[in-house]
Amino acid sequence: MNLKLRIWRQKNANAKGRLVDYELQNVSPDASFLEMLDLLNENLIMSGEVPVAFDHDCREGICGTCGMMINGVAHGPEAAITTCQLHMRHFNDGDTIVIEPWRAKAFPVIKDLIVDRSAFERIIQTGGFISVSTGSAPDANAIPIAKEKSDMSMDAATCIGCGACVAACPNASAMLFAASKVSHLALLPQGQTERYERVVHMVKTMDEEKFGNCTNIGECSAVCPKEISLDFIAMMNRDLIKATLMGIS
Ligand code: SF4
Ligand code: FES
Repeated sequence: MNLKLRIWRQKNANAKGRLVDYELQNVSPDASFLEMLDLLNENLIMSGEVPVAFDHDCREGICGTCGMMINGVAHGPEAAITTCQLHMRHFNDGDTIVIEPWRAKAFPVIKDLIVDRSAFERIIQTGGFISVSTGSAPDANAIPIAKEKSDMSMDAATCIGCGACVAACPNASAMLFAASKVSHLALLPQGQTERYERVVHMVKTMDEEKFGNCTNIGECSAVCPKEISLDFIAMMNRDLIKATLMGIS
């Protein structure tokens, strides 16, 4: 396949970025999207140019680092996958592909396609953990948990913190991410002790980090590679109301 690429190039956080056109020949339809970018970077290095900076680690949909906007869609045209799981067979010979970083005030661009997602870490730091003493490892069946509850908790826990939800939301809201992190603990007995403090602290940090609010558009869930449901946002909002009624701030 021969492709035309329009890629956002930006030297650093303070530099002005712009879209730069590249032509790339002989791309295998079996290559992953990141392998296609590797090929481009090899060509750029061979011709003495600066390669395109992009984030990646596991390349199997687990770490959440590889997100980018592909033709205006977070993680590209295929549903329920990350950028590293996208393959070039989903594009056509001769296509022009526009590749940009996540766009959100809370995720400033570091270089080219890499953004700073540490705002997510700061949300986690204010509540995404259990601090009660749990002692030694209990038997697996010592704390019975209903199957429905454990399945829901597991669904929420599949969030990989990629940030696609924020990038896709017109409000740059982090509600789906925060709701996943709040809900997977709120659904388990171990998460009950700090349940209401947790939701208050994490939502407060989310607001301080300048993420927007949710207006029920649903783009977040539509682009989420783990198909996290909007139900978790409703669950988090219910816990937040309960916490307010309990006087927790
Ligand atoms: S909720 Fe989905 S889109 Fe948002 S950070 Fe988690 S995995 Fe990524
Ligand atoms: S590189 Fe880890 S999810 Fe894509």
